[in-house]
Amino acid sequence: MLLRIDNLSVSIDNKKILNDYNLEIKEGEVHVIMGPNGSGKSTLSKAIMGDTRYTVTSGNIYFNGKKLNDLKTDERARLGIFLAMQNPMEIEGVSNADFLRTAVSIKNDGKLNLYEFAKNLEKSYSNLDMDKKMIHRSLNVGFSGGERKKNEIAQMLLLEPKLIILDEIDSGLDVDSLKIVSDNINKYKKENPKTGLLIITHHQRLLDHINPDFVHIMTCGKIAKTGDRKLALELESHGFNIINAKNEQNNIKEESSNE
Ligand SMILES: Nc1ncnc2c1ncn2[C@@H]1O[C@H](COP(=O)(O)OP(=O)(O)O)[C@@H](O)[C@H]1O
Ligand SMILES: [Mg+2]
Repeated sequence: MLLRIDNLSVSIDNKKILNDYNLEIKEGEVHVIMGPNGSGKSTLSKAIMGDTRYTVTSGNIYFNGKKLNDLKTDERARLGIFLAMQNPMEIEGVSNADFLRTAVSIKNDGKLNLYEFAKNLEKSYSNLDMDKKMIHRSLNVGFSGGERKKNEIAQMLLLEPKLIILDEIDSGLDVDSLKIVSDNINKYKKENPKTGLLIITHHQRLLDHINPDFVHIMTCGKIAKTGDRKLALELESHGFNIINAKNEQNNIKEESSNE
């Protein structure tokens, strides 16, 4: 099992956001998480990455059988977990190249071949159809929403993760950029077939490009329903009512079985 989340509860400012959350991702699997705003999707991604603002109050996270709970974010990254954040950060005065060089160097226990790094960075920018001049600009400063998202993917390509978490990677991308980003993810996945993907999205159109094995709908800090690609289409046409409809049906069933 690549990732196993067991009964995880996570709070922020004493407010419970994830509530006995369970999820298992095997090598090579693609899982999609959809759900209303505020249901805890980004919290899940940050808890996996070990963001200290999010307090794990119970439960465990395992990566390749290793318990992550007490590991710092950089230690988790070194194990091969990567998160493309919903809102990538800006740092004035630190260039993309500096930032990425540090990230790759941390990932490789301080070792870095500068020539290889520069070559790979240029290649990933060109694969993503990004202007190479941007490499030397301050991290994400003045970047458009789409350029920031592409920059996250450039980072992903350089870090060569085993588990990729993409938090709303498609928001802010125009149709052509969405295709370019998806093509790069698919190519990476093809070259590294054991890589697991956890994709958080609001739009089923992303799934026209990236084929999911499972689609989960999350509400109130829990997975309320799991299905396949069809569930995303159902959600697109009926909205989150499909969850309530299912719960009502369950209640009816429970009531009738009690009689
Ligand atoms: N850093 C934070 N500080 C305070 N509240 C937060 C923080 N991060 C998330 N929350 C709250 O946790 C809930 C879940 O947020 P989030 O995980 O971002 O939801 P989603 O990604 O599903 O839209 C929301 O009510 C949000 O306001
Ligand atoms: Mg979010």
